[in-house]
Amino acid sequence: MDNFSNKVKVFDAFPKVAPEHSVRSSRGGLSSVFTIIFGLFILWVQVGGFLGGFIDRQFSVNKKLELNLDINVDIVVAMPCDMLTANVMDITNDNFLAHEVLNFIGVDFRIPPFFNMNNENDNHMTSNLDRAMEGSLRAEYAVKGKRVNTDAPACHIFGLIPVNHVKGKFFIVPKGTMYPLREPAPKDKFNLSHLIYEFSYGEFYPFIDNPLDFTGKVTKEKDQVYNYFAKVVPTLYEKIGLEIDTYQYSLTETHHKARGSGYIPPGIFMNYSFEPIRLLIREKRISFFAFVSRIATILSGLFIAAGYLYRLYEKLLFVLFGRKYVDRNREKKEGGLLDHLVPQNKDF
Ligand SMILES: *[C@@H]1O[C@H](CO)[C@@H](O)[C@H](O)[C@H]1NC(C)=O
Repeated sequence: MDNFSNKVKVFDAFPKVAPEHSVRSSRGGLSSVFTIIFGLFILWVQVGGFLGGFIDRQFSVNKKLELNLDINVDIVVAMPCDMLTANVMDITNDNFLAHEVLNFIGVDFRIPPFFNMNNENDNHMTSNLDRAMEGSLRAEYAVKGKRVNTDAPACHIFGLIPVNHVKGKFFIVPKGTMYPLREPAPKDKFNLSHLIYEFSYGEFYPFIDNPLDFTGKVTKEKDQVYNYFAKVVPTLYEKIGLEIDTYQYSLTETHHKARGSGYIPPGIFMNYSFEPIRLLIREKRISFFAFVSRIATILSGLFIAAGYLYRLYEKLLFVLFGRKYVDRNREKKEGGLLDHLVPQNKDF
């Protein structure tokens, strides 16, 4: 048996320090205190992270089969409702009759102070998770196809249009410019200045920010064409069991006067296409065991590193100032914490 334990000693991975080498010093004490404080700080940060979770963002190919979705529109155009029409055109040539599901309410054209006017919309960021969750209140437009004050100077067009999940465009144009009509809107009344309160895809979450929300354009040209091109990305926000399945989009835009050849009529055109990917933004939590083992790893690493640093520091002092300096604050080898309390009397 003795033989065996002698053999096994070879595998002892933990270096032992002979008792006479383990002396206490004030520098050593101080460095331990710092290490412990730092360790507690790390523990605190980790516990906070564990309780709060972390944000995980993933892209995947969009496997969900989506046949249709809604476009949410809330726009004011500086022309009387009587002279405007709206519709959706997509590559399936479906007939959406947006004009019939949207509401056209006559209003005055007033620009609210918080609107971002006549700027390129280029500063959009993905809503962060908390912001999206705060905005997760769903809403529905209560009315459909309502017409009020249709001869007022401006027209508030709002509602929800069900469309196919394919490339297409939604547009608002003066009557008689897209399709010939017996009574087209008079050209001198054209004014495609507009304010966008809401333009989004998917379920209507009025409080989620979209790049076009609260932006607008004012023009002195009568035959202005506004083109917005949206690349729409299906996005799923997920937090503690709550899901928001929505779409975000990135945007480019152009505007110019209506051209003669290959005639594009004056109007507001919202072109859209869908990305074949899906963005998942969710809050995750690591498991309790993973958390405990992470803490253990970090803390033990911290103490080992602190030990090395301390020894390095002592070596440095020794090299710079010599042994006397290094030993100054040390207790004697044979000494202990209580040494100086014991009377140093040989007869004792
Ligand atoms: C359109 O209406 C806006 C706001 O009333 C005005 O500032 C602009 O000059 C008008 N443009 C045209 C072409 O009449």
